[in-house]
Amino acid sequence: MSLLLEGKRAFITGGTRGIGAALCQVFAREGADVAFNYNSRDDLAQEVMGVIEALGRRARSFKISVTDRFGLKHLTRELVQDWGGLDILVNNAAINRGDNFATTTDRAWDEVIGTNVGSLFAVTKPIYKQMIRQRVGSILNITSIGAIRALPTAVHYATSKAAMIGFTKCLSREAGTFGIKVNAIAAGIFDTDLAQALPERWLQMHDFWTSSGRLGRPEELAEFAAFMVSDRNSFMNGEVVIVDGGTVT
Ligand SMILES: NC(=O)c1ccc[n+]([C@@H]2O[C@H](COP(=O)([O-])OP(=O)(O)OC[C@H]3O[C@@H](n4cnc5c(N)ncnc54)[C@H](OP(=O)(O)O)[C@@H]3O)[C@@H](O)[C@H]2O)c1
Repeated sequence: MSLLLEGKRAFITGGTRGIGAALCQVFAREGADVAFNYNSRDDLAQEVMGVIEALGRRARSFKISVTDRFGLKHLTRELVQDWGGLDILVNNAAINRGDNFATTTDRAWDEVIGTNVGSLFAVTKPIYKQMIRQRVGSILNITSIGAIRALPTAVHYATSKAAMIGFTKCLSREAGTFGIKVNAIAAGIFDTDLAQALPERWLQMHDFWTSSGRLGRPEELAEFAAFMVSDRNSFMNGEVVIVDGGTVT
């Protein structure tokens, strides 16, 4: 059997750390050329590029914010010129701030909503238009169980991740008519920098309420994501799949 993503061209947002870095590695191992963007860490970007290339795939990295509409249009044009098209987009990059709602500042609210929701439009639109031209494509959005369950996470973050679910479901209707799939994974708690910022008590509670009794490893999410965006997952559209180690609640 061929590799899951043989010959595919993928763009992953936030590829330098955590789940994004695992997505880059697993997608490349499964045969995809992988481009990704990031915000700050040039050293990590070089490392991830090296991992992709060591797997024999083409790699590109872009230091550009997921909110930079103009830059992302330009980036898409450049990638399509170089690679001839784009088959897969993963909207992965996001931020969180450990806030109570009552003490959330205007700035923190705007930052989280602006990044996590604003990026859906800024990143997806130019790539979606290219996928329409191709009449094929797969878009995967990484949301959170915090958008679905009443968990003690920050309200701005949960709100932004819930927006991602509406985005997934509604866009899938329009996209389906062009042969494009739009799905989402609602992630439980995975061992990344973002999760390590959660209160210690929260992490202990997590290990108790999940049947697997531990945090997820980023590559565990990436393995499932590779199947979700592959052609072998041919009859799923507008779906949100929970990958959380088996929640008891
Ligand atoms: N970890 C979890 O437990 C968990 C649970 C549920 C959902 N999720 C979701 O999974 C996704 C990945 O989370 P993670 O834990 O892997 O996060 P992470 O470890 O904090 O990594 C975030 C990545 O996004 C990039 N990024 C952040 N803001 C950006 C911006 N404005 N423009 C471009 N890149 C930006 C970061 O790049 P720099 O290093 O350059 O800043 C980094 O590569 C997120 O959507 C998150 O909401 C995670």
